[in-house]
Amino acid sequence: KRVATIAILAGDGIGPEIMAEAEAALGEIAAVGGHRFDLVRRPIGGAAIDALGCPLPSETLTTCRQADAVLLGAVGGPRWDKVDSKIRPEQGLLGLRSGLGLFANLRPVTPHPALFGASPLKPEKLEGVDLVVVRELTGGLYFGRKLELPDQAEDVCTYTVAEIERVVRRAGDLARARRGKLTLVDKANVLATSRLWRRVAEDLVRREYADLDYEVVLVDAMAMHLLSRPTDFDVIVTENLFGDILTDEAAMLAGSMGLLPSASLGEGSRGLFEPIHGSAPDIAGQQLANPMAMLLSVAMMLRLSLGLDDEAGLLEQAVWDCVSEGQVTRDLGGSLSTGEAGAAVRSRLSQVAA
Ligand code: NAD
Ligand code: IPM
Ligand code: MN
Repeated sequence: KRVATIAILAGDGIGPEIMAEAEAALGEIAAVGGHRFDLVRRPIGGAAIDALGCPLPSETLTTCRQADAVLLGAVGGPRWDKVDSKIRPEQGLLGLRSGLGLFANLRPVTPHPALFGASPLKPEKLEGVDLVVVRELTGGLYFGRKLELPDQAEDVCTYTVAEIERVVRRAGDLARARRGKLTLVDKANVLATSRLWRRVAEDLVRREYADLDYEVVLVDAMAMHLLSRPTDFDVIVTENLFGDILTDEAAMLAGSMGLLPSASLGEGSRGLFEPIHGSAPDIAGQQLANPMAMLLSVAMMLRLSLGLDDEAGLLEQAVWDCVSEGQVTRDLGGSLSTGEAGAAVRSRLSQVAA
């Protein structure tokens, strides 16, 4: 029996809609397993700007620091998107990631056979795809010095040896626990930071991960290889911006943005768990959002921060059972609302747990 405190940051757009399903699933899991989850709801992003004038109020960060895990829906939206505004919802998420020291963002991509038709790729390309992108999350262009003048702008990309080593090590450990293949993605033919990544990663692999099958791929080519030979990859490690872009592309292997979960981890067990998609302003407030990425993020939280492996497995099984039976939202060709899809997963959950 586990007692855990979970910070709940619903955020903007579809964030609150998918978070409602996450909370209900946690209620079901607590009831079935006799666990107690204390949910502490706090504002972030645009909602926090509206309420408190700041995308990451200090109380929100403190709550997250004191929690065993953090769940986040999504932040951002056109209301806060003025190009000249100094305060943006996205700063809340970036501040949270760096404030909690979450340098490794795990984004698994496992297309389900029942959804091969939802992907633009041919089914034979998707058969057997099972990869994880380990995206560096607290460095690079996102966090470098910025300059914004009327006629000139600058985003500096900086990485240190220590920042590269810790995330490559995390990816190497993961590869060792999986199929033993590690791919570094960089742009070493142009970028100095990429040349540092390549040198540090190669040294580290030679010293500590010589058992792995290691390869290096340039990021532009990787954008192609992800579509032409996705089964060749196991663990892909890359810098912050490349990981952001490649995983939205990879979402289309799975069939929808609404299917990809993520775990952001640091040195300790406390992680931040969120779908890779955004606040989807085009469908927000209409109960059209697919809650599966959020629910799969809850499963990653149960496994990686709360040590509830069985419950995580049951939740994942319930999600994939629903998907197999066509109990899905519109993005996957179904007709269920967000709430109905979440309820379908909970009802499966009570069946598989029984
Ligand atoms: P997006 O991921 O929000 O949406 C891209 C497309 O995917 C849209 O057509 C959307 O309807 C669809 N989609 C996304 N999630 C879905 C779901 N669960 N179910 C069904 N369809 C889904 O990306 P965007 O439109 O480029 O960005 C919108 C806002 O979200 C921006 O303000 C951006 O900064 C923010 N954003 C936030 C996060 C985050 O909070 N982690 C991530 C990405 C983007
Ligand atoms: C993501 C998002 C964020 C990112 C934005 C909203 C800051 O796109 O989580 O993938 O770029 O990291
Ligand atoms: Mn993104």
